[in-house]
Amino acid sequence: MGILDRFRLDDRVAVVTGASSGLGAVFARTLAEAGADVVLGARRIEKLDDTRAAVEEAGRRALAVRTDVASPDDCRTLIDAAMTEFGKVDVLVNNAGVGTAVPALKETPEQFREVIDINLNGCYWMAQAAAQVMEPGSSIVNISSVLGLTTAGLPQAAYSASKAGLIGLTRDLAQQWTPRRGIRVNALAPGFFTSEMTDSYADGYLDAQLPRILARRVGDPEELAAALVFLCSDAGSYVTGITLPVEGGLLTS
Ligand SMILES: NC(=O)c1ccc[n+]([C@@H]2O[C@H](COP(=O)([O-])OP(=O)(O)OC[C@H]3O[C@@H](n4cnc5c(N)ncnc54)[C@H](OP(=O)(O)O)[C@@H]3O)[C@@H](O)[C@H]2O)c1
Repeated sequence: MGILDRFRLDDRVAVVTGASSGLGAVFARTLAEAGADVVLGARRIEKLDDTRAAVEEAGRRALAVRTDVASPDDCRTLIDAAMTEFGKVDVLVNNAGVGTAVPALKETPEQFREVIDINLNGCYWMAQAAAQVMEPGSSIVNISSVLGLTTAGLPQAAYSASKAGLIGLTRDLAQQWTPRRGIRVNALAPGFFTSEMTDSYADGYLDAQLPRILARRVGDPEELAAALVFLCSDAGSYVTGITLPVEGGLLTS
């Protein structure tokens, strides 16, 4: 096998949550370009249609399933749908997430719990459902954040806690499942990438962050998708339990 062939995902089946916008939509299309059929989950089913079209344009099959990852039942339904349609799940990308910024003395229990329920618990329900059916050689990638490792000037206790928790979840699932089941579990810690989430930042916020980023720019989602393909494919076959920062040097500055 040539070195670039190791990055191919031909005839693999990938499940991507939060595939209705932003990074998730780019991940789904990229995995299809690498050769995978893609199962798409998110709450806005109508927006999943756009992602499905992009996967099909890349020459692969797609299935869209309305999914709220905060519901363990929905997570099982998404994996069941993948099994019914494609007969296997090789890759899970736990990408669904919400970003909030609420001062800690004002944040209600409901606000805090909602973020943890989606960003952290949702990844666990999805991983549990997927690992039940995954064969050795499969790969789970959790989309954490640099906010799991540092701060970025906003009051983000819930978001930061969820993303730091996801790094611990990644480590623990790797130590449970890589030796016994041959499933690799890794995380990506993205810095700032353009998406609906970053579009919602106040004017000037991202510009103020640029001096902290060695590359002095925000990332292009394709630059993150390249790292995702590495972790999902045989190119990353000896990599498990890690959190890979893709952040233009933000954590180094
Ligand atoms: N963009 C960045 O710079 C950046 C940096 C670090 C980490 N991240 C992480 O990357 C991931 C994607 O973010 P993004 O920037 O692409 O933001 P985005 O455009 O807002 O996308 C978030 C996605 O998550 C889905 N989602 C939210 N709640 C959900 C739920 N309960 N069940 C199922 N899906 C749900 C949304 O779909 P529906 O609303 O249709 O459900 C949407 O597709 C997130 O985990 C985020 O924390 C992003």
